[in-house]
Amino acid sequence: MATNITFTMIKPDAVEANNIGPILAKINEGGFRIVAMKYLRLTKEQAGEFYAVHSARPFYGELVEYMSSGPIVAAVLSKDNAVNDYRTLIGATDPAKAEKGTIRNLFAKSIAANAVHGSDSDENAAIEADFFFSKLERF
Ligand code: CMP
Repeated sequence: MATNITFTMIKPDAVEANNIGPILAKINEGGFRIVAMKYLRLTKEQAGEFYAVHSARPFYGELVEYMSSGPIVAAVLSKDNAVNDYRTLIGATDPAKAEKGTIRNLFAKSIAANAVHGSDSDENAAIEADFFFSKLERF
């Protein structure tokens, strides 16, 4: 299968807990290459736009507040079967249900503060990567 991409964020809880390094190590050990990366803090407006697909959900307000509460690391990752393999590496959205050894099992605090984001489809990976990175910022 052709090499493709996924998009990830290391969320404010994992940054605050000083887990950027260990999470990047798991990403590298999982066979992913870092195509693009930046360290930034989202405004509420930017977080709301990024998660607009969830705007009808009861947790949307909490999600937007949380994702703009502190700095994050945004990155584009490449690997064959990137979207599905990254979802396997990070584990279930709810860390209580995440497989042992997955990034969320190891580093997440709760369903909201769940350490990392991972794209759920190739289409969304492209949309999410474009939200953060221009062509000139990808290698
Ligand atoms: P993420 O993969 O970034 O995609 C949407 C996010 O919404 C998800 O991770 C969780 O952090 C958050 N989320 C999903 N369900 C809930 C919930 N029931 N309560 C709070 N946050 C949630």
